[in-house]
Amino acid sequence: IKIYADGAVVEDMLEAYRTGNIKGFTTNPTLMKQAGIRDYEQFAKEVLQNIPDRPISFEVFSDDFAVMEEEAKKIASWGTNVYIKIPITNSVGETSIPLIRKLSGLGYSLNITAILTLTQVRETVNAFTQGTTNVVSVFAGRMADSGVDPVPVMKEAAAICHAKVGTELLWASPRELLNIFQADQCGCDIITCTPAILGKLPNVGKRLEQISLETVQMFSKDIQMLGYS
Ligand code: E4P
Repeated sequence: IKIYADGAVVEDMLEAYRTGNIKGFTTNPTLMKQAGIRDYEQFAKEVLQNIPDRPISFEVFSDDFAVMEEEAKKIASWGTNVYIKIPITNSVGETSIPLIRKLSGLGYSLNITAILTLTQVRETVNAFTQGTTNVVSVFAGRMADSGVDPVPVMKEAAAICHAKVGTELLWASPRELLNIFQADQCGCDIITCTPAILGKLPNVGKRLEQISLETVQMFSKDIQMLGYS
């Protein structure tokens, strides 16, 4: 499985890039808001100047499909490694499928986001033009947050995506490091992780006794800080 970095803090993105282990990047409007991005194009250009050789997804902002189409074309012009991120609906729930079909027909690389159901996966994959390269972002973590086990859904989503050459399935909104292993076992091609999850990668392969010891050491240090020793 390929691990992508999810976020909009330029320094975090560059740090992830420098490790050499991160195979691509995803951003979204909420992450951009959290990072305090004021100028979208300037942010994107700074990222693309420093990361010219990894796929990077930038999302359209408009709610109007005609405007979204113009934004998509502009985003695509920013770099050859850019994927245009299109939400599966606009914010009033109107489907983006006709726009996806149109942009895919023009040959653009798309990342369809905020997908939660297998019906949405099927409709999205059907809308992709043969010969194009695309990503289907299924929000497995948000599914889990609603009490639904994402594992069987993601396995089926992988089968649907892989029936069309050039389509990759991305496990979006992971909530814990375990999700990387689950995504791999489900046949996902990509998982995009926040810096918080990426920061736990050094734990992989650690003996559980060691983690137990480190936990007690953390308690001990905090007891000292409470002034009890
Ligand atoms: C994926 O591309 C998204 O940006 C991201 O994984 C969303 O995660 P969230 O559910 O934590 O907002």
